[in-house]
Amino acid sequence: MTNIKPVINSYLHCLEKEGFLDRFYELFLTADERISDMFLLVDFDKQKELLRKGIMTILTYLDHESLAGKITIKRLRETHGSRGMNILPEYYEIWKSCLIQAVEEYDHEFSDEIKAGWQKVLNEGVSLMLEKTGI
Ligand code: HEM
Repeated sequence: MTNIKPVINSYLHCLEKEGFLDRFYELFLTADERISDMFLLVDFDKQKELLRKGIMTILTYLDHESLAGKITIKRLRETHGSRGMNILPEYYEIWKSCLIQAVEEYDHEFSDEIKAGWQKVLNEGVSLMLEKTGI
């Protein structure tokens, strides 16, 4: 990954503001009923914290491939993959666009360039989740 730092900064801007991950889940759960059904029994305070860390793990892994990051991504791939919850590739497309929409609303320095950076990074991140890579 070439220059991921602006994306990490953008993510930090979003997290500094109250309500960023609430907004993401609001967009994500209303995007498709099959997705909201999967989250019916979920404790969202815990889930937001897990997702906050999960996204940061992917960003830092793409920045400098650490062993700890690799192990965490492998575990996430197992829980989300075909032998786990079997999250479909089409859900990841929705996930990416909802996250970018939420970032656009919360990062005060959002720009076309930042958006392109997020798209690139999330495409790589989703490939890691979808067992498309050798890690
Ligand atoms: C790169 C994208 C994603 C990341 C980083 C991510 C991260 C996480 C993390 C850290 C957890 C906590 C449990 C665990 O460690 O497995 C989790 C749970 C979960 N994720 Fe994801 N996730 C992603 C994409 C998705 C997508 C696209 C869906 C589609 C519906 C999804 C649905 C779920 C569900 C249903 C749970 C379980 C909640 C529960 O039963 O407690 N995730 N995710």
